[in-house]
Parts: sequence; structure tokens; C-alpha cells
Amino acid sequence: MDGSLIDQLIETVHQELIPKLQIESIDPHDPVKISYLPHPWQQLGAGNYAAVVYHPDYPNWVVKIYAPGRPGFEEEVEVYRRLGYHPAFSECLYAAEGFLILKRLHGVTLYDCIHRGLRIPKQVIKDIDEALDYARKRGLYPHDVHGRNVMMYHGRGLVVDISDFLQEEKCSKWNNLKRAYYWLYRPIFSPLRIRLPYFVLDIVRKSYRFFGKLKNSCDRIFYKIYARQNKKTHS
Ligand SMILES: Nc1ncnc2c1ncn2[C@@H]1O[C@H](COP(=O)(O)OP(=O)(O)OP(=O)(O)O)[C@@H](O)[C@H]1O
Ligand SMILES: [Mg+2]
Repeated sequence: MDGSLIDQLIETVHQELIPKLQIESIDPHDPVKISYLPHPWQQLGAGNYAAVVYHPDYPNWVVKIYAPGRPGFEEEVEVYRRLGYHPAFSECLYAAEGFLILKRLHGVTLYDCIHRGLRIPKQVIKDIDEALDYARKRGLYPHDVHGRNVMMYHGRGLVVDISDFLQEEKCSKWNNLKRAYYWLYRPIFSPLRIRLPYFVLDIVRKSYRFFGKLKNSCDRIFYKIYARQNKKTHS
């Protein structure tokens, strides 16, 4: 993409998209909603923090706009700065005032693959593992790698959302997703070509969060009991 086209895109975003776009986060645990998107912009996706749109005249780039009040914009810019180039990740072309212009990744999220009953080959999982290792080597901490943040394109794996890769605390989402892939998807879902409707995927997503919170609370309680007993034995 040449420089003048980039400048045109940036100008269009500043003049035609940002002043008119209406976007809100109703519940921080659910995807943000676009209530008004000016013509001819098209919505590509929505996460719990931001919406992603593209302009038909610039089909290889997307604009990711954070909903008002949702954090993480500066961190995402920093992650892209540290990441450099890798074929499984996007690249950041420009960032300002709560939005980023990113290279568009073509493909289907693994979440949508399950919904549509598309076959996910092992190579996709291997590519994503390799990409996450690359990110670790660049001083990042893969975090929040779930089914809507990874994609399949022509049988290869891509990582579409790296916004939480500065968070150092352990995140098991990718390992759990891989476990589900090898234990459930390959032996049962894939051969039977099972498709899961969105409401079932939503239940899985919400139960996952619920059990994650429950586990954290239990860990905290056990840790407190353990610390108290330890104190008693040493006093
Ligand atoms: N570079 C890209 N190319 C194509 N589609 C993209 C790109 N970035 C994001 N998307 C689409 O937009 C969706 C939302 O983007 P993203 O996951 O980055 O938002 P988020 O609010 O940070 O998500 P989360 O809730 O996981 O934190 C993605 O699931 C994907 O479908
Ligand atoms: Mg996301």
C-alpha cells in the first residue's frame, strides 16, 4: 500500500468515520454495539472492548475503535510496537484517539468455524502456538487467546487480537481451547460435523467465565487458610 493511499485512508477515518460513528459498551462482558455506522463502512467484528470496521475502497485494512470508557487502547498500540512483523499477526499502520488502523486478516474465527461446522486442521493450532512463542520472544505475554481472537485462513492459523499481551499474569484460555480441540473437537465434533448455534457457544463462554471466577475464589480461600495455618505452626 503506497503512502498517499494510507494518507487518504487516515483522512477518511478522521473526517467521515470517527465524527459520525456511534458505538457503546452495554455490558463489559459482552461485545460492544455499533448503533450507527456511516455509509459505506462495513462492520467486520466486535469484541468486548472495541468494534472493527472497514471501508470497501480500502479492503486490506480495518479500523478498530474502542468504545467510550473501555480501556486498553494505549496498551494495544504498545503491543504492536513490540511485536514487529510476523505472518500470523496483523500490523498497526496508524493509531490515534482511541482507534487503530490495522492490516486486515482474512479468515474465519475458530468460534465461527465451530458455529459453521468448518473443519479446523491441526496446522491451524500449530501455527497459533508458533505465533504465540514468537510473541513471547518479543517480550510479550499471550493473554486472552480465545475462539474469537484466533482465525483460520486457507488451513493456516492467525492471531487477530493481541491487545492484552502486556498482561503478565497467567492466562489458561489458549491451553483450555487446545484441550477442547484435541479431546472434544477432533474425536467427536469434527467427524460428526456438529455445528453449535450461537446461543450454545454463548452458554459455553459464560459458563467458562463463571467457573473461572469460582476457581479464583476457591484458590484465594485455600491460600488464606493455608497462610493462616502456616502462621500458627510458626508462632
Ligand atoms: N485485523 C483484523 N482483521 C480482520 N478482522 C479483525 C481484525 N481485528 C479484529 N477483527 C475482528 O473483529 C473482532 C473484534 O476485534 P478484537 O478481538 O480485536 O476486539 P476486542 O474488543 O479487543 O476483543 P476482546 O473481547 O477479545 O478483548 C475479532 O473477533 C475479529 O472478528
Ligand atoms: Mg477480541
